[in-house]
Amino acid sequence: MPAVTVEFTENLAIITIDNPPINATSHAVRSRLVDALADIGQNSAVNAIILSCHGKTFIAGADIGEFNQPARDPLLPDVILALEALPIPIIAALHGTVLGGGLEVALGCHYRIASATTRLGFPEVNLGLIPGAGGTVRAPRLIGAENAISLIANGKPISAATALDWGLIDEITPADNDLLAAAIAFANRVSSLPCPPALATATATVTSHRPANIDWESLIAQTAQRARGAVAPVIAVKTVRENLGLPADQALAHERQQFVALRDGEQSRALRHIFMAEKNVAKLPVTRDITPTDLATIGIIGGGLMGAGIATACLLAGYDVVMIERDEAALASGHENVSRHLQSSLKRGIISPSRFDQLLAKLTGSTDYATLAPTGLVIEAVFEDFAVKKDVFASIAATVGSDTIIASNTSYLDINALACSVSSPERVIGLHFFSPAHIMKLLEVVCTDGANPQTLATALSFARKLGKIAVPTGVCDGFIGNRIMSAYRKQCEYMIEDGAYPEQIDAAMTDFGFPMGLFAMQDMAGLEISWKTRQRQAATRDPAERYVALGDYLCEQGRFGRKTGRGWFIYDDAKSPPRPDPDVTRLIEQESARKGIKRRPFDQTEIINAIISAMQREGDKILQEGIAQTADAIDVVMINGYGFPRFRGGPMFMKRNQASSA
Ligand code: 3HC
Ligand code: NAI
Repeated sequence: MPAVTVEFTENLAIITIDNPPINATSHAVRSRLVDALADIGQNSAVNAIILSCHGKTFIAGADIGEFNQPARDPLLPDVILALEALPIPIIAALHGTVLGGGLEVALGCHYRIASATTRLGFPEVNLGLIPGAGGTVRAPRLIGAENAISLIANGKPISAATALDWGLIDEITPADNDLLAAAIAFANRVSSLPCPPALATATATVTSHRPANIDWESLIAQTAQRARGAVAPVIAVKTVRENLGLPADQALAHERQQFVALRDGEQSRALRHIFMAEKNVAKLPVTRDITPTDLATIGIIGGGLMGAGIATACLLAGYDVVMIERDEAALASGHENVSRHLQSSLKRGIISPSRFDQLLAKLTGSTDYATLAPTGLVIEAVFEDFAVKKDVFASIAATVGSDTIIASNTSYLDINALACSVSSPERVIGLHFFSPAHIMKLLEVVCTDGANPQTLATALSFARKLGKIAVPTGVCDGFIGNRIMSAYRKQCEYMIEDGAYPEQIDAAMTDFGFPMGLFAMQDMAGLEISWKTRQRQAATRDPAERYVALGDYLCEQGRFGRKTGRGWFIYDDAKSPPRPDPDVTRLIEQESARKGIKRRPFDQTEIINAIISAMQREGDKILQEGIAQTADAIDVVMINGYGFPRFRGGPMFMKRNQASSA
């Protein structure tokens, strides 16, 4: 099937793009579009053109794969100029996700009609780019600079209703209507009218071409602050601003120049890497031909922090949930936790009041494991204690069918050993959610040694339905993420004994792009949990390994972090930022002296290099042991679970880059 076809019916030409999966503007589409326009030009009977797409979406953007190759004519900006210059009206019929280059093509058409569920946007900044085919020129001229900037610099799509409100589209047709029929009716209405002027050059359509009320300097400053080191959003705002003052041809050339510079830069390469890594990370050869088991009801054991979050995620994804707790009081509290999460989804407009009631009605609770009978998957999220989890696994296995998958949300315990404690260990798996479980996108799917492909395929499909990025990992202490975090925490602790200070390390990390430094993060989580873990591990710790006891000393003084007003830092009140504490400085210096360490200065570059190298060394070990399938999987975990700055591509991407530029 050619990527672009043209059908002539009466006085209309209907162009259909068919380039699955997302109708990207790949080279074949661009060149066939140019041919199609030439064919139409030969047909003098045509008085209107419809541009539509086959499949689940209108064009959702340029083909990201082509960005790594030399550009091939015709380029998208030229194709759009050709569309715009047509002397007969061209109507874009929009459905699905009209994104990036797709929206730019639509803006090159004279009219836009959209199905009601369509979403439209410029997600280029998420790939470290700005629109490169006229988006920064045509969008402000059509919908005003402010709306255009919010689309282009935030990268978030808008609904068809908002697009109509802003004037980005001309008409909405109900979702269950035939979009093509609606576009034909629209075309018949406008075919006898004079063709509207091209958007890029027209001034008549400009609603606020040169808005006087934008405070550009503060807008740029705010954008830079939100972007935390990512350059594209700031360049997006600046480019829109500069383009407002330029004639169309110069504005288009200026945009292209900015686009190409970003496309060839480090940040966009990193962001494209992570975009594709996220798409590919859950593709396991062993599950390729397996049809996942359909799941309708999920059992959750434990309604605490994690259990309630997991239950909420399952409800929001459309599953029925059975929650089991130790006693009625704990069950009531678990129910309350879920209700609170759903209420916050309601407040944020994610669900409607009637949906809230429906979802809560799909949650049932009990202290009796017999109620788990209808479940296809049971996830335990009880205390992090092997004996407790083993008992819970035995109770689950005694009730459910032998093909019900049993999953553990353990952070560190040996799931292989848990699997061996039940019959049919091939249905046991780890599902390591991140807190808050109904919000965080990452889910480590821990593949036990015995888990069979059916279990893996079903777990991965379940994760997809929850909207999670599932990263398969092997069994080890801390899986991928917590294991790397542990190596990085140790590296930070060594540096403070050797001469750095917590505030210096945290500042280096936030400058690098992390939302928070390690020590502020520990203070936020509470220091006592890891203190208790260290106490438990004391007897088995390798005496030859360097041990930093500073965190223990803080806990011995009752400094458990933010909730006690003191930890590594001082907190003046619940919301105040961390403030360095001279007592902690003294404690650190005394400890260095006690260990005979001569403290030395560290600069930001050394701190960051040491942290990234520690992550990379641990990442290499994880790969050698087969815990992660690929280096990309490690990047996906660190970015989606631990705040590693996305625009840097992840520690393993940085390692590859360092090696290739050495
Ligand atoms: N280029 C190439 N492949 C793409 C792609 C793109 N822009 N976007 C998605 N794909 C691929 C995915 O890798 C995936 O491949 P697979 O089937 O082999 O795994 C397939 O399309 C389906 O993608 P999803 O699994 O993400 O499908 P969804 O239905 O969940 O989402 C989507 C569809 C909303 C379009 C989502 O894929 C998306 O957001 N894509 C990125 C869109 C984007 O960033 N567009 C702008 C590109 S830059 C641009 O246009 C520059 C211009 O200004 C010149
Ligand atoms: P929590 O203490 O908030 O909740 C545990 C719940 O389990 C409590 O409500 C308790 O009543 C219930 N419970 C205990 N024994 C039970 C039993 N025998 N039967 C039924 N219910 C029982 O703990 P949290 O933080 O939710 O952690 C749960 C698990 O999730 C742990 O394994 C933890 O390591 C893991 N985890 C925790 C994360 C976090 O950020 N807190 C992140 C990822 C995993």
